[in-house]
Amino acid sequence: MQILTNPQNLMELCRQWHAAGDDIALVPTMGYYHAGHEDLMRHARTLAHRMVVSLFVNPAQFGPGEDLEAYPRDPERDSAIAASLGADILFMPEPGSMYAQDHATWVEVPDLAKGLCGQSRPVHFRGVCTVVLKLFMLSQANIAVFGQKDWQQQAIIRCMVRDLNLPVRIETRPTVREADGLALSSRNVYLTPEERAQAPQIRQGLLRAQELAQAGEHRAGVIRDSVLAWWAQHLPLGRLDYLSIVHPETLAPLDTTDGSALMACAVRMGKARLIDNILLRP
Ligand code: PAF
Repeated sequence: MQILTNPQNLMELCRQWHAAGDDIALVPTMGYYHAGHEDLMRHARTLAHRMVVSLFVNPAQFGPGEDLEAYPRDPERDSAIAASLGADILFMPEPGSMYAQDHATWVEVPDLAKGLCGQSRPVHFRGVCTVVLKLFMLSQANIAVFGQKDWQQQAIIRCMVRDLNLPVRIETRPTVREADGLALSSRNVYLTPEERAQAPQIRQGLLRAQELAQAGEHRAGVIRDSVLAWWAQHLPLGRLDYLSIVHPETLAPLDTTDGSALMACAVRMGKARLIDNILLRP
């Protein structure tokens, strides 16, 4: 595995691979790997001749007062993991090499970015789209792999790919969870033992919603209220950021769960902001 920090070097090497007839799978990450990242890499490894993993804590997707500085980092361990899972390149650029001081171009998908996480993170998805497009251009990836935990992110990226005719196929992988149901996230390290003990209740609440919907409850408001009641009882350390029932692709809020419906949430617990989601019908 080569570790590259210079965007031009990444571009040049990927150009050579394409010229030799190889296709490229990209796994964009912000590092501090857990089993969810490992699953993305294992899957990407099966999809293309070459695998590029990017590790970049992208400042553009953090708003003022968010955890950019505190975001957990362990590049040595991460590079050992990426190498062991067959990455050909680990791309670890410095912010200054990704963004010129007078960087002025942004990619936005405003309709899909305004709800859910976008309500409390108004610049987040424009930062994500911009860096992901840059990574697509630099790696010239044929395929890119994302996790379903970030449902809104993958919906927005799919829309960007469609609208801009980007020659990249997007693959998403199911959320990887701890044995007690907590979705794996690099941010779980922020949890105190008490918060960690309650955090699986996020998933328990969502599972109750799924049970209700599958038992025939169609009213989104009723389903949402039952999750809030569950959390009020079992998740007292959690502070709700949002809990919404939306269409899985358009992310438009739904009043009923008659068709496809996704329940998505963000809950703050101490220093952590945890997101999760569930499809209410199979
Ligand atoms: O999901 C993430 O880790 C990030 O948002 C991504 C896609 C690597 C862009 O910085």
